[in-house]
Amino acid sequence: MIDLHAHILPGVDDGPDTLDIALEMLRVAARDGITTVAATSHWCWNENALTVPSALERTERVRQAAKEAGIPVEVVPGAEVPADDETVFAALRGLLMTYANNGRYLLLEFPFHDLPPLADQTIEQLLAGGFVPVVAHPERNAVLRQQPRRLQEWMRRGALSQLTGSSLTGRFGPEVQKAACRMLSEGLASVLASDGHSPQRRPPVLSEAVSVAEKLIGREKTLEMVKELPTIILEGGIVRSEAGPAVERPRRFWQRWFGPRE
Ligand SMILES: [Fe+2]
Repeated sequence: MIDLHAHILPGVDDGPDTLDIALEMLRVAARDGITTVAATSHWCWNENALTVPSALERTERVRQAAKEAGIPVEVVPGAEVPADDETVFAALRGLLMTYANNGRYLLLEFPFHDLPPLADQTIEQLLAGGFVPVVAHPERNAVLRQQPRRLQEWMRRGALSQLTGSSLTGRFGPEVQKAACRMLSEGLASVLASDGHSPQRRPPVLSEAVSVAEKLIGREKTLEMVKELPTIILEGGIVRSEAGPAVERPRRFWQRWFGPRE
């Protein structure tokens, strides 16, 4: 399985404080059957901000350390980017980390309790700029829980959505769990990821959520969400969303992990 949402870089955000803890998270992921983890740290605009070069460097450091420690998990670059007034400006100037640095798929986070007034425009302008926003855990956003059609409209235009595994298994309470199950059943979830933050409290695991998802949408569709689609996203290839049109401009597999944007 591929986990497209994990806070694995040490000392960057509310993920692990040290490299040892990051490696422990990767061991937990490996035991759960995860073979690739995208390092999607929070992308802040403050003085501690990551940049594309620094995120690449930090990701490479963790990847190398995992390799040296014999942990069979690949670590690829990514970021969890806040959706606000700065996002489109930064994306169009190549200042944001996309998945595998492929210049295309962007994990986009909205606040939990609200949607910014420019949410629709942000999605639209990113799409117009050649990016594919992957909306992080829509089931955890109060507005999208109430108005799932809003998410559906974004997906119809070409955006994707990432459901968090522990939402499905009930970690965030019954309301979020119910919304997650409904979004999954209604085709409003493109990929399933862990949003892991730590080895124990919020571990980077997917197997339990996969079992829940299999009961709701079947094995084949569930595996698509943790294998096929994440692979295509990291490749920068074409994802055909049930709720939206295919997106063009295929890229070669793993081609741009550490290379510059085109
Ligand atoms: Fe996250």
